[in-house]
Amino acid sequence: MQPAEVFQDNVESWETLIFLYNSALKEVGTKLEILNDEFVHVHKYNPIEYIKSRIKSPESICKKLKRNGFEVTMENMANNLNDIAGIRIVCSFTSDIYRIAEMIGKQNDLTVLSVKDYIKRPKASGYKSYHMLVTVPIFLSDRVVDTKVEIQIRTIAMDFWASLEHKIYYKFEGNAPDYISRDLRECSDIVSMLDEKMLQLNKAILEEKAKMK
Ligand code: GTP
Ligand code: MG
Repeated sequence: MQPAEVFQDNVESWETLIFLYNSALKEVGTKLEILNDEFVHVHKYNPIEYIKSRIKSPESICKKLKRNGFEVTMENMANNLNDIAGIRIVCSFTSDIYRIAEMIGKQNDLTVLSVKDYIKRPKASGYKSYHMLVTVPIFLSDRVVDTKVEIQIRTIAMDFWASLEHKIYYKFEGNAPDYISRDLRECSDIVSMLDEKMLQLNKAILEEKAKMK
């Protein structure tokens, strides 16, 4: 069953929809915690720094539907918006991102609908992150509803860049002066350099530690 089908027999469709997305966030959040705990247990290493999740606000939902040329209806919201439920996983190193993405891909009860690798191919803005759109089955008392969750995976440095860029973008309502956009892209290159350097440093530290054993 798809979320939009739930409306046909439900009067309180908004509450139902938000309830589904909240349940999906809980399911995926718990899964990620278990994967992280298992990783710590096996490798004695914690790949996830922190996880943030959010439900898109009703204002943002309406704005995005209108921006994409859709009428504001529950059906359009469920069928055409992929990021009503969003989870952000912030990792230490770039290599952790691909490790976590692989672990998510192997979960039998998650269906990966699409993947966007903005690390291999950054956006024109300089934005870098790894995006996965998944569905998770939500088991209600009388039916199972496959519910969409957008997962964003990035390093601390990428997250730092994205947070600041987001604020600046909003200040200028998308019309930042050229030199500011250029400087942001330059900062994004510095972020990549920093991530690469930290990864090398981590490797060197692990090698030194192995020698001492
Ligand atoms: P949206 O309509 O923005 O959701 O884009 P999309 O449907 O093409 O999906 P995409 O995977 O490109 O982006 C989804 C989400 O990634 C956004 O809601 C942001 O959280 C984040 N994102 C994408 N591009 C940028 C960017 O240039 N800067 C920042 N700060 N975040 C971005
Ligand atoms: Mg979005």
